[in-house]
Amino acid sequence: FGRNLTVLAKTDSTQTEAETLARAGAPEGTLVVAEEQTSGRGRQGRAWHSPPGRGVWMSTVLRPEGPLTAVPQLTLLAAVAVCRAIRAASGVEAGIKWPNDLLAGGRKLCGILLEAVVEDGGIRHCIMGIGIDANLEESDYPEELRDRVTSLRRESGTEVDRSALIAAVMNEFETLYALYAESGFEPIRLLWESLSVTLGREIVVRDVRGERRGRAEGLGAQGELLMRAEDGSLAAVYSGDVELYPG
Ligand code: BTN
Repeated sequence: FGRNLTVLAKTDSTQTEAETLARAGAPEGTLVVAEEQTSGRGRQGRAWHSPPGRGVWMSTVLRPEGPLTAVPQLTLLAAVAVCRAIRAASGVEAGIKWPNDLLAGGRKLCGILLEAVVEDGGIRHCIMGIGIDANLEESDYPEELRDRVTSLRRESGTEVDRSALIAAVMNEFETLYALYAESGFEPIRLLWESLSVTLGREIVVRDVRGERRGRAEGLGAQGELLMRAEDGSLAAVYSGDVELYPG
């Protein structure tokens, strides 16, 4: 992973660049990194703010063997890999908010976007996009984001070596991806639970069905979030956005 590498000064989105390479037959592990993105993409059609020079904006080509149901599990795997890499490379005690946001001190410092291209009911390839606010400063953010986001630099007080961080992400991912191929999702599920800042918390889930409240209790075998509703019933949440209540 990461040995077949393209580094760009500026692009619209590394997702689009990696997708083009994947369609042209690029091997698994092909990595695209950009200093700046002009239309970075986030989950659920949102934009991803990607100013020049201080972030890590990267996309990797994946060619997983498994069925389509592997995609949500791969997003959780990616979160575990990036969380471990961040802790090792910066010392910042990042935690995972379901499904795959990384937070420090309750603020978001990394987002992950897994886009799968489907063919005949199976996965043709996936593009794993990772955005880490490595060395971003307060002034890099638009006003409306400032109180919801943070960076590794802000949390640790020192500049993080972005190349070392990217290498750590690729190494962690490669190790866990091999573990997943060999042993399935269970060991990943346990690692995810141990790094989670969601479990045990009161949450609101927003998805196509609207809004639901409850307490996050665990991660299911497929990667779904298990939530205890106010009436005592247990709900499985397969997609959507989670908001954590303070405290
Ligand atoms: C999210 O939290 O909504 C996911 C954000 C993913 C951002 C990364 S930055 C590199 C890659 N290129 C993109 O356009 N998006 C992803």
